[in-house]
Amino acid sequence: MMTRVEIVKAILKDKFGKMPKQPSARAFAPSNIALCKYWGKRNVELNLPITGSLSISLGNHGTTTALKLSDSGRDEVILNGEPLDKNSAFCKRLSLFLNLFREEGGWSLEVSTDSNIPTAAGLASSASGFAALILAMDKLFGWDLPLKDLSILARLGSGSACRSLWQGFVEWHVGHEEDGMDSHGEELPYPWQEFCIGILLLSTKEKQISSTVAMQRTLSTSSFYSLWPQKVAQDIATIHSAIKAKDFLSLGQCAESNALAMHATMLTSWPPISYATPETMAEMHHIWHLRSEGLPLFFTQDAGPNLKLLFLESIEDVVKEQFPRLDIIKPFHVHVPDE
Ligand code: PMV
Repeated sequence: MMTRVEIVKAILKDKFGKMPKQPSARAFAPSNIALCKYWGKRNVELNLPITGSLSISLGNHGTTTALKLSDSGRDEVILNGEPLDKNSAFCKRLSLFLNLFREEGGWSLEVSTDSNIPTAAGLASSASGFAALILAMDKLFGWDLPLKDLSILARLGSGSACRSLWQGFVEWHVGHEEDGMDSHGEELPYPWQEFCIGILLLSTKEKQISSTVAMQRTLSTSSFYSLWPQKVAQDIATIHSAIKAKDFLSLGQCAESNALAMHATMLTSWPPISYATPETMAEMHHIWHLRSEGLPLFFTQDAGPNLKLLFLESIEDVVKEQFPRLDIIKPFHVHVPDE
């Protein structure tokens, strides 16, 4: 079985371990929300999934990362303007990731990362974080790699990061190779101007259980998990057809049902896992009630208590009235930050 470093070397070839070409570099990557979820790894070391998944990127909601060589001999991390302690979990995770790209005693970096989405609240900030980091590294080191290769490198940091290299709808191909060279994101060319996502922030607290730990527990203890790959295969096909035909009802129903099925595999794990709080459940009932009155409004939920509402621009005013605190994102008509 190949290690993460071997994958990095296979992609970078003679560029591996070289010093930066530029004094500094910065890049932005959007956060992404899966409409058909990634839940379960066939290889934990390489973040290889058991199934494919399909997401929508969040336009200008995401992470900007600036890099420069550090002369202190160790990596320094500044998160949203605050320098972090070198022993913090965030710094350690980042340095371990950078280790994949350097020889021992090689360069170290000052990494300044700004997210305009809450970190670790199930809003996929690690996805945009690792995607922005890899894009900035590509510039700093002058690798000039194709996006497909950058997607594989970002995946080594966080699985869902491999979908954050593009805007719009993105599919993560499951891949069949043992080394995962065919497991990466791909942009789906179906813009949908009227498509809206509303972030219903119910808590910004750090999640109790990481998605990796939760996935592993689900895989090893939930008897419902065996049904999941089959459901994903159907849902990816349904979402493909729905985005091509702009069939919002089909898309919304499929995305909501997919998220609920993922959470059902967690609820049937032991010890059980639930990311929902009483507020999450109350808001789900609120949405179901509005739908029973004819409003075409759906939701999806990730590894956190927050809900992401899915609707078309034509009902934006009603949705705003019902959810006054909603942060509404129109993924296809946003201005993406300059880098
Ligand atoms: O990429 P990770 O390890 O943060 O896992 C993401 C898991 C979900 O957000 C729940 C689903 C998904 O496809 O984004």
